[in-house]
Amino acid sequence: MCGIVGYIGAQQAPPIILDGLQRLEYRGYDSAGIAILMAGRIKTLRAEGKLSNLCQRVVEQPLTGTCGIGHTRWATHGRPSETNAHPHVAGGIVVVHNGIIENYLELKEALRQRGHNFRSETDTEIIAHLIEEQFKACGDFETAVRKALTEVRGAYAVAVLCEQEPDTLIAAKQGSPLVVGEGHGEFFVASDIPAMLSHTRDMVFLDDGEVAVFTRAGARYSDLAGNARAKTVKTILWNPLMAEKGGYKHFMLKEIHEQPRAIADTLAGRLREESGDIYLENIGLSSDQLRAIDKIFIIACGTSWHAALVGKFLIEKLSRVSVEVDIASEFRYRDPIITDTSLTILISQSGETADTLAALREAKGKKGKILTICNVVESSIARESDGVIYTHAGPEIGVASTKAFTTQLVALHLFSLYLGRTRATLSAQDCRQAQQNLSTLPRLIEDVLQLDATIELIAHDYVTARDFLYLGRGNQYPIALEGALKLKEISYIHAEGYPAGEMKHGPIALIDEQLPVVVIAPHNATYEKVISNMEEVRARGGKVIAISNHDRWSLNGKVDHLLAIPTAADDLMPILTSIPLQLLAYHIAVLKGTDVDQPRNLAKSVTVE
Ligand code: AGP
Repeated sequence: MCGIVGYIGAQQAPPIILDGLQRLEYRGYDSAGIAILMAGRIKTLRAEGKLSNLCQRVVEQPLTGTCGIGHTRWATHGRPSETNAHPHVAGGIVVVHNGIIENYLELKEALRQRGHNFRSETDTEIIAHLIEEQFKACGDFETAVRKALTEVRGAYAVAVLCEQEPDTLIAAKQGSPLVVGEGHGEFFVASDIPAMLSHTRDMVFLDDGEVAVFTRAGARYSDLAGNARAKTVKTILWNPLMAEKGGYKHFMLKEIHEQPRAIADTLAGRLREESGDIYLENIGLSSDQLRAIDKIFIIACGTSWHAALVGKFLIEKLSRVSVEVDIASEFRYRDPIITDTSLTILISQSGETADTLAALREAKGKKGKILTICNVVESSIARESDGVIYTHAGPEIGVASTKAFTTQLVALHLFSLYLGRTRATLSAQDCRQAQQNLSTLPRLIEDVLQLDATIELIAHDYVTARDFLYLGRGNQYPIALEGALKLKEISYIHAEGYPAGEMKHGPIALIDEQLPVVVIAPHNATYEKVISNMEEVRARGGKVIAISNHDRWSLNGKVDHLLAIPTAADDLMPILTSIPLQLLAYHIAVLKGTDVDQPRNLAKSVTVE
């Protein structure tokens, strides 16, 4: 996830942009850059590392001008470096971008063949070149941006300047956030409201496929085809805490909605579609060591343990190494058989969980190799490991884990692909396909999040339920466990997750008219069997809330509520199915009036055994 800021008006742009970037630094901080139109010429400054490095550059080489754009980056395509930092320039065009251009490789190749040379490894640079090419052809900045953007596929929020039309700032959005701030004779654009809140409270929220053209005289909004769009100005009355929660009622809800961005960040810079390989920057284990591994243990607690259970499916399938999953507090007391060819993977959002840390030390003491999947940089567990895969989900404040969980699933996916390629159990072509599937995730999750209002309505029917049963099968069984845990944690309703096929061996006795049963039923190899289990529930009067990507028609009359989700590769479906479960738990808890972000008796980081 990156942050972008743009300004056009009468004030000096550099301090406004740098201040805005500082408020967006939570979105990324591996490099930053700024471009200002100075006397009709674009002047850019960029720096690797934190924003303070860029600020220092601006002190050393002062910029003046009343129109400019800036960016704070979290690498997706291309490593963090000054060369890959935004803004990117082609001819007289300069661009900052947040998002991922999915077809950048084919566009880059086509541009190369037409004589374009590239300086960076980023997907963003191709946008600058596409606009430059269109501008040369039509001589009109706005038309050039519009035409160029119809060529790209994926997610973007962009702000663009053009040397030949120095009094115009253009912004556009598809899939990534972009907000406009309207002042008197001045306009701001930014990835998030806090970047502009000290200048204006009048905001316009761009929709996907919209383009905004700003001059000091006014703003014009249209779609990519050039049809005018009427936009409403909304006055934002947030206090500082609300600004921190991004306008959401709870951190948990904000974090649920942040998942498209968080997952894009977990993927950032790690996909190498060209070669069909995965790049993991701190893996800490040589290829020979990874090839020698004959056993993998995945150890974690709570939600992270549920991620571990999904990880077993992925690793065994893609790298054919046998995996055992353990709850950390159990692992160290069972004298596990660990050798120097064992790999122990610890999963921990916080990186400070005492049980997980103790399990790490147990495995390390037996000379096993240690890899951690963690969200908190430089946490204890990360520091004591041989290698780390950071999830880059951004801070998770809500005690109930949401975005940390789904990004753990993505990190496990990346590792499984990496191991599969290293051990030659996965072809470059299959890995490339898997990478393409992964890069569609942020967009698919945006679709799933559209269920929010429907789920809020459904929640009213179940707020008085005493117990819940969650059923799933295969890689969806851990999601059933996670759905039940979410509900327990924040609504205090008793809930159990069960493998759907196991229901008849006991839990079926619980079913009556009072029992809501959440059935996770993606259309896969076990779909028909899960549907049979669902019918068994219905036959006994149980209420069924189904989550499925199968067509509505086939489930008609068989469920009380259907939460229809899009289709992804089966390995990725657990990520999609977990999101409606987070929302269901959230809305039931809100209706019950519990303290959603800080539920009773729970702590974000459990540092006692
Ligand atoms: C998740 O909603 C819980 N708060 C809890 O189960 C948590 O996942 C567990 O305590 C492990 O925490 P960790 O990932 O920070 O190690």
